[in-house]
Amino acid sequence: MSEIADELRLYLRSRYPLIYIVSHEEGRVVQLLHELAEDLGKSLTLWSVARGWHQPGGRSSQRGAHGDPRDALAACAEPERPTLFVLLDFHPYLKDPTIVRQLRETVHHLITATESSLLIVSPVLEIPDEMEKETTVVEFPLPGLEEISRTVTGTLQSLGDRLEVALGEEEREELERALLGLTQTEVENALYRVIVADGKLDASDIDDVVQEKRQIIRKSGILEFYPARESMDDVGGLDVLKAWLTRKRACFHRDAEEFGLDQPKGVLLIGVPGCGKSLTAKAASSAWRMPLLRFDLGRVFGSYVGESEQNMRRAIRTAEAVAPCILWMDEIEKGFAGATGASGDSGTTQRVFGHFLTWMQEKTEPVFVVATANDIERLPPEFLRKGRFDEIFFVDLPSEPERAEIAEVHLRKRERDPAGFDLEAVAEVTEGFTGADIEEVVKAALETAYLDGRREVTDGDLLGLARATLPLSATMPERIQGLRSWAQTRAMPASRGAPAAEIASEEQFRDRRHIDL
Ligand SMILES: Nc1ncnc2c1ncn2[C@@H]1O[C@H](COP(=O)(O)OP(=O)(O)O)[C@@H](O)[C@H]1O
Ligand SMILES: [Mg+2]
Repeated sequence: MSEIADELRLYLRSRYPLIYIVSHEEGRVVQLLHELAEDLGKSLTLWSVARGWHQPGGRSSQRGAHGDPRDALAACAEPERPTLFVLLDFHPYLKDPTIVRQLRETVHHLITATESSLLIVSPVLEIPDEMEKETTVVEFPLPGLEEISRTVTGTLQSLGDRLEVALGEEEREELERALLGLTQTEVENALYRVIVADGKLDASDIDDVVQEKRQIIRKSGILEFYPARESMDDVGGLDVLKAWLTRKRACFHRDAEEFGLDQPKGVLLIGVPGCGKSLTAKAASSAWRMPLLRFDLGRVFGSYVGESEQNMRRAIRTAEAVAPCILWMDEIEKGFAGATGASGDSGTTQRVFGHFLTWMQEKTEPVFVVATANDIERLPPEFLRKGRFDEIFFVDLPSEPERAEIAEVHLRKRERDPAGFDLEAVAEVTEGFTGADIEEVVKAALETAYLDGRREVTDGDLLGLARATLPLSATMPERIQGLRSWAQTRAMPASRGAPAAEIASEEQFRDRRHIDL
């Protein structure tokens, strides 16, 4: 709370004309404004269409009810003493040009003549063009650890003797951490729910709280806690990328920032489909021991007009509250496709996308973005500009030694001893294969052996199946070549060993193998 309090105090002291606070949590915002007003020696008055001007806590002001927005603005023009005038849910009236004009005049007058300020608090951000320059937008953050701790204490106190609490200090902190990412009301509800189940609160409730939180966040429809089971050992090859991630992890500490390092922003992985981009995002989450929040961009834009921006803001706020975390945006080109086109809803897409990029640039919370893309043509160029991501990696088809490693990973995963196989031979015949293709070969080999009287898998199975497979690359050699030449000057190769320069076409594959594919 203190950061946002400092920010708002600064705006109020520096007489910013109109402050627009975006939040679903009116109660928390008003509480903070109340404290700030006292601090600054000003009064606080709230307005809502239902109650007109009134005091927080309920008493109606002597100004009486001014339920009409025009009356409301007229009524606050000559305050008796410096006041923070807070308009709750005022956004619907900003569509009316006369109200907008009146609002601008009132704001100007208040600032110059009365040491008072006007603030709007609303879950929706809608600023008319005329007001864009004089409006300061503040994203009100979700509760942080300290505030959650206070809420937990308050909730437990309210339950009093009826409740049995058996939590050590560390468990209590773990519980509070598990509640990050929720609004205050959601925190209270989650607590009540796990407590009501058995009348007590102990370590066994922490998991329930985590589950509860996942549910709540999933309901928002855009973010999902992704339980990553993959480790870095499950990723074959990609040595440069893996080493880079290890380095960045070490820079993700508070003392690194104090030392003068920039906080890691994120990484963009571009490349051939099926070569381990999504896999690396998942593995990074386990390796870094940070929750993986999967961000479904398609859902951001899938909803009705005006909701997209709100969705994007809410997702960002949640990620910031859960931080440190990894925000995984898979196949971003699909989500942002509209941002490059001039047609349809490109206005919205562009705004939402602009908001995201600005956030990337300015974010202070430890949210590390891992974005992946299979197609650069559909990616807006702003995305690729230096300074957005810490690095852009190109994930190519695996080289020969990498293919051996990938085959090894998938044999091990299925409890087969890789030492019993000629992995070099497998690597040789799988030229042009993606990691996903190699995985398919291993899976098919196991299936063959199983159906063949449950015998053990052999090199012969692997090699035979690999020879009979037409890899994905052969169906799209031009696309891969295109990606490669694009990446040459714009991205860092994710591995040291280079794959075969030439990509065989479908015909070449058939010729070389003399078999019917
Ligand atoms: N480098 C790799 N090492 C091990 N397995 C891989 C590798 N690349 C791909 N795979 C296998 O193929 C699957 C699909 O790969 P994925 O990471 O989803 O590809 P993409 O690059 O399209 O995101 C993975 O889940 C994994 O099983
Ligand atoms: Mg993928």
